[in-house]
Amino acid sequence: MRYEEMPQLPARGWAGNIADLVEDRLGLLRKLSLREELLRGRGLYLPLVFVNGPRAAHEVLVEKPRAFEKSPGLRLLLHYFAGQGLFTSEGDLWKRQRRLMAPLFNPGALQQYAASMNRCALRAAGRWQDGQHLDLAHEMTRITMAVVGETLFGADTFEEADDLGEALTTALQWTNDRLGSRRLLLHVLLQDVARAVEPRAPAPLRGPLHRLQERLNEPFLLEGARSPTLQGAIARLDARVQEMIDERRRDREAHRDLLTRLLDARDEEDAEDQGMSDRQVRDEALTLFIAGHETTATALAWSFYLLARHPDLLARAQQEADAFEGDGPSRYEPERLAFLTRVFKESLRLYPPVVLLPKRTLQEVEIGGYTLSPRTLVFISPYTLHYRPEIFPDPDRFDPDRWLPEQEARRPRSSFLPFGAGPRVCIGNHFAMMEGPLLMATLLRKFRIQIDPRREILPDDFATLRPAGGVPAVVTLRATS
Ligand code: HEM
Repeated sequence: MRYEEMPQLPARGWAGNIADLVEDRLGLLRKLSLREELLRGRGLYLPLVFVNGPRAAHEVLVEKPRAFEKSPGLRLLLHYFAGQGLFTSEGDLWKRQRRLMAPLFNPGALQQYAASMNRCALRAAGRWQDGQHLDLAHEMTRITMAVVGETLFGADTFEEADDLGEALTTALQWTNDRLGSRRLLLHVLLQDVARAVEPRAPAPLRGPLHRLQERLNEPFLLEGARSPTLQGAIARLDARVQEMIDERRRDREAHRDLLTRLLDARDEEDAEDQGMSDRQVRDEALTLFIAGHETTATALAWSFYLLARHPDLLARAQQEADAFEGDGPSRYEPERLAFLTRVFKESLRLYPPVVLLPKRTLQEVEIGGYTLSPRTLVFISPYTLHYRPEIFPDPDRFDPDRWLPEQEARRPRSSFLPFGAGPRVCIGNHFAMMEGPLLMATLLRKFRIQIDPRREILPDDFATLRPAGGVPAVVTLRATS
């Protein structure tokens, strides 16, 4: 079938449905959960498709991933502060880097991180005082940042969490505010034109056009790109990651972690003159540092919020945590964390930290029986999928038992996508699925966590689905500790 035959979502103004997304992203994505599997719209001058159902999502992510790239707008923004790391790279570079990092995330490696996760949670809890008021979202960032620092970088970031967290928030806020902006759309349009024209241009023009393309890799058209606040935040993150790299250069033998792998690969490739540059090492490290904690912290904050609003479920969670001895789990034994794993999954369903996976077609491709032309924007939303009532009945209800194995087995493939799917699936998905329940068990053993049940917390319109205003809580020391 032709693209034009696909049911249509009306689009207004020159920015089309991109403007609707900017205005009320969650509202629109939620409405789409009641609509057809595929809807066509318009994003500026480009055709756009909303993928609202699991069958088409599976086709895009798992069956035909080679026909897609990540959206150039998102890549442009993330490149600017995190560089060309695994999250945004494409093609051969992505393949090589993914292969290089995969061993850090295999089951054997993950098991070694469990003790560190337990230790970081205890360290944070060690500072909590009986009856203290605190923001759980903030505390979760401190813990997950410390975990990724220790496990992948052999670095202690615990005391720097406020400072680094603030720098990261500034950079992510800038990214989020520019996503879907007219200038970003214009910038991507210019990139496309320069790329298309260069090969066909007369020889003397090719050099300048090539330089223009390189220049367009920087988002100079976007407001605030050179602002001292943003530049300061990027410099702060950069400096800390560089410090970790320098430390590891001095003492490589003692650790076999991410940094060692990157540096080893850099040296080996230097010998063959292919070169993973210092810049590439920095980009990969910064990407992992950010991707490795921000989303997990968000998911944990929501998990505690949801549990606190459901005392019966909180009691079950507490019981599971209490079955551990001493300081809680320092090994990963999934069967002993079965309920907390279901809680974590259900929280990822209701509040998927990444609500949108924006892709673009690289070539003509058929999805759901419709032919999409090259450069069609394709938006897959975990948020939309997770609220489809025919897949998750009574979708607003927090019900961890939806994740009992027999219920899960009945659901269509690619109906639960907090980590994406296919070759570009989150490399840290098993890391996060171990970390979430393990940290919850450690903390619940030590403290009773109370959140005002009358206070509804809404998701923020941020780069990840953070709880707006954090998760204010009171923590009380428990007798088990
Ligand atoms: C609850 C926690 C997490 C969530 C919800 C999450 C979600 C995601 C999503 C949606 C993607 C992109 C998929 C796509 O574009 O198609 C992704 C990619 C990625 N994530 Fe995660 N993530 C989490 C935790 C982690 C952790 C713990 C790490 C590392 C320690 C990590 C590292 C990455 C990296 C490096 C990528 C890029 C992978 C690639 O393109 O090959 N993430 N994640």
